[in-house]
Amino acid sequence: MAVRFDWKFAQGFVHPDELDKLQPFVTDVHQRLHAGEVPGNDFLGWIHLPSQTLARGVEDILAAADEIRQLADALVVIGIGGSYLGARAAFEWVKPEYYNQLPREVRGGPELYFAGNHLSAAGLKDLLRVLDGKRVVLNVISKSGTTTEPAVAFRVLRDWLVRQAGAAEAKRRIYVTTDRARGALKQLADAEGYRTFVIPDDVGGRYSVLTPVGLLPLAAVGVDIVALLSGAAAAEEALATPSLADNPAYRYAALRNILLRKGKTTEVLAYYEPALRMFAEWWKQLFGESEGKDQKGLYPSSMGFTTDLHSLGQYVQEGMRTLFETVVRVVRDDTGLTLPSDPSVDDGLEYLAGRSIAWINDQARLGTQLAHADGGVPNLLVEVEDRREQSLGELFYFFELACAASGLLLGVNPFDQPGVEAYKRNMFALLGKPGFEAMQAKLRERLGP
Ligand code: PA5
Repeated sequence: MAVRFDWKFAQGFVHPDELDKLQPFVTDVHQRLHAGEVPGNDFLGWIHLPSQTLARGVEDILAAADEIRQLADALVVIGIGGSYLGARAAFEWVKPEYYNQLPREVRGGPELYFAGNHLSAAGLKDLLRVLDGKRVVLNVISKSGTTTEPAVAFRVLRDWLVRQAGAAEAKRRIYVTTDRARGALKQLADAEGYRTFVIPDDVGGRYSVLTPVGLLPLAAVGVDIVALLSGAAAAEEALATPSLADNPAYRYAALRNILLRKGKTTEVLAYYEPALRMFAEWWKQLFGESEGKDQKGLYPSSMGFTTDLHSLGQYVQEGMRTLFETVVRVVRDDTGLTLPSDPSVDDGLEYLAGRSIAWINDQARLGTQLAHADGGVPNLLVEVEDRREQSLGELFYFFELACAASGLLLGVNPFDQPGVEAYKRNMFALLGKPGFEAMQAKLRERLGP
């Protein structure tokens, strides 16, 4: 596998025996997961999704992606949560940081923007400004088809597109990814004749990056989705064993469980490449929504190092000892970037002249892992070979499986998210949505004048 797991910087905190003692529980979780005998078992489609999607083929997605490349200067992906984070994580992982600023012939695809992941008017207005004068294609993604944030953004952007390109052309430039049959978005897509892609019933939002939710926009900007799926399929095969000795995803899940029981209630996902920022956001949603329920669960947070070593690093080193850290490290450096020699300048850096920037970054990583472990923060390490699609596919699957196992070891249903409804009910009431009248009156009274 291109993904490796190492816990040597946590060994002062967990004895290997403790892992062995969890083996029967992990075996049980593995068997029940594969037999479909777990809570939330109507959402287990992700387990064999990579191999099944490869077997079925992705020609329809690749053809639509080609169309989008022809039609668009800019693609806007509208979605939130699981209908957003995976695509953005993979885009930022695989593509260069300043992708949109590169010339089209270097990029190879349309510019890519994301909308519908907030309700900020200023954010939406800024996007409209940057889209002005461009040929724009919209890919609106919502499994339920009723989520407010993407629905609001879609209405604004669709209205804008119709005014820019005319109703008939706008129709050609809207791609909808939604449920097979249900929801307002599906009805609208059918009524308007938009090109539609289906999110499988048995795959929940945060597990959906390898469905058309992620695959269509990623293919449109030239991400190799077959390699992404192949990597995930390789992990699906390699991680199909219950043995903690042979399954690094289960080892990671078991260690999380042990550390939580020892009072390490926050996990920091740390990364040393800015390209992993949105991957960390995807990871936070995966673990936060899967485990944070029944007043249980690790709090998933993230830090970008070395940047955050100059801010939150102080807390990690010396704050409350309730943290552990999982570092995701990209091993290979393809940049060829080294520190130039300049003996004429006395900046104290000449001893590093000729060293690669990646090597310097990795010494910072090693020094930090040692310091944080010495300071009482157990450190886990997930290494991934490179930033290619195949490796990322493996990593997606690694964390999906680890998350499912971890949630089940914790005794929660890792596939539901009942808690996200509370704010929605209040918001609907305050917005005056039909059916919420009584609740609106109560909430307005509580809020006062
Ligand atoms: O993981 C989940 O299920 C959620 O984060 C959803 O993806 C998110 O709420 C968006 O839902 P929908 O795709 O229905 O618009």
